[in-house]
Amino acid sequence: MNDEFLKAKGILEKYNQEHILNFYDKLSEEKQNKLINQILNIDFEQIGSLYENTKHEVEFGNSKIEPINYLEKDKISNEDFKKFNTIGTDIIKNDKFAVVTMAGGQGTRLGHKGPKGTYDLGLDSHKSIFEILCDTLKKAKEDYGTYVQWYIMTSEENNRQTVEFFEENNYFGYDKNKVMFFKQGQLPMCDTKGKLMIDENGLIKEAADGHGGVFESMRKDAVIDDMKQKGIEWAFIGGVDNVLANMVDSVLIGMSIANNVPAAGKSVVKAGPKERVGVFCKRNGKPSVIEYTEITNEMAEAKNENGELIYGESHILCNLFSVKAIDEISKNKLPYHSAFKKAKYINEKGELVVPEKPNAYKFEAFLFDAFESLNDMAIMRVKREEEFAPVKNAEGVDSPETARELYKNFHKN
Ligand code: UTP
Repeated sequence: MNDEFLKAKGILEKYNQEHILNFYDKLSEEKQNKLINQILNIDFEQIGSLYENTKHEVEFGNSKIEPINYLEKDKISNEDFKKFNTIGTDIIKNDKFAVVTMAGGQGTRLGHKGPKGTYDLGLDSHKSIFEILCDTLKKAKEDYGTYVQWYIMTSEENNRQTVEFFEENNYFGYDKNKVMFFKQGQLPMCDTKGKLMIDENGLIKEAADGHGGVFESMRKDAVIDDMKQKGIEWAFIGGVDNVLANMVDSVLIGMSIANNVPAAGKSVVKAGPKERVGVFCKRNGKPSVIEYTEITNEMAEAKNENGELIYGESHILCNLFSVKAIDEISKNKLPYHSAFKKAKYINEKGELVVPEKPNAYKFEAFLFDAFESLNDMAIMRVKREEEFAPVKNAEGVDSPETARELYKNFHKN
C-alpha cells in the first residue's frame, strides 16, 4: 500500500464513497493509478453540495426579470447596415476574429455513437455535421480572403475520436494550421443517493461539465493566450449542433463594436409560448437568459401591442464575445446546474447496468450564466429559417429530419 493509495482511501472514507475501491484489485496498474489520481483530484465537498442542491427547488423568486432590447437584422437601416458590415469585414479580413465550436456534449438525446459532429445528416452528399460547419468557414474564406481561426472544444470522452475524424477527412480541405482542439473539464456524476458511480473502465464516472465550461477550459488550455498572441479580438462561440449557424457574421461584429458592447447574442423568434427554449431577458438589470423550465406561464404568454411575445427572443447558443470579455469571464466560476440523465455504470456485483430511465445526476455550467457578468450585451434577431436548424433529438422536433429540411430549403435559395 503506497501513501497515495492510503490517502485516497482516507478521502473516500471521509465522504462515504468507499465503494469506489471495490474493484481496485482487479484493475491494471495503469487504471489503478488513474483511479487514485481521480480521487486525489476530485473536490468531494463540491460534489456533496451539488448533490444536496438537487434536493431543493431552485429559487428565482427575488430576481427582477424584464424584457431585453434587440435589433432585428432585417430592419437595420441601410446606413447602419453598411457601417456595421464595413467594421466587421475589416475585423475578419485582418484575422482579428475566430470561431469557437463547442463539441464536448454527450449528445445523449440524439443517441449517435461517436461525437455529434461526426453524425451524417443524411444529405445526398452524406456530409457530417462537422463538414457542414466547415463549409461555412470555407465560404468565409471566399468572402473575406482568409481562413478564420477555428477552435473546437471537445471532452475527455470524445477528443480522440474528434481529432481522428478531422485527420481522416483531411480537415475537409480547410487549412489544418487554422484548427485547434481543446478539451473541456469534467465532473463526477452521482446516483440518487449521492454515491459516485463506477464506469466501464473501473474508474469514477465523470462527464463534461457543460457548455459553460468553455471559458475556464479556454483559459486552462491556453486558447485565450493563443487568441491574444494571434491578435484575435472577437470570437463567435456556438454549439456544434446547429447546421445553419451563421458563424462569420460581419454585421454582428460591426454592431457590437459600434455599440461598444463586450458581447452579442443572436436570437430567433420563439415559435410559441410553449417552445422549449430559453429566451433572452434582463435579470436584475443585467443581460440573461430565462429558461423554459423557469419562466411562468403568464410571462411566457405575455404579448406586446403588436401581438408579439414579450419574452420571445430565443437564445440559440450563437454568441459573440470580445476576447477581453472571455478573459474576464474565465477568471470566475459559473454556477453548476444539475440534470437527471441516463448513465451506464458498474453495480456492486461488478455487472454493467445500462439504464432505460434516468438514474444519475450530471452537473453542468451553462454558457449564458456568463451574460450576467457583462455590463451590456447587444441582441440581434435573425431569421430562424436562415440561421437555426438544431440537431438534438433522434426523431420529431429538432431532429436530423427537421434539420435536413431546413438545411435543404436554405441552400436551395
Ligand atoms: P446540449 O445542451 O444540447 O447537449 O448542448 P448535448 O450534449 O449536445 O445533447 P444531450 O443534452 O446530451 O442530448 C448544446 C451544445 O453545447 C455543447 C454540445 O456539444 C452542443 O454543441 N456542449 C454541451 C459542450 O460542448 N459541452 C457540454 O458539456 C455540454
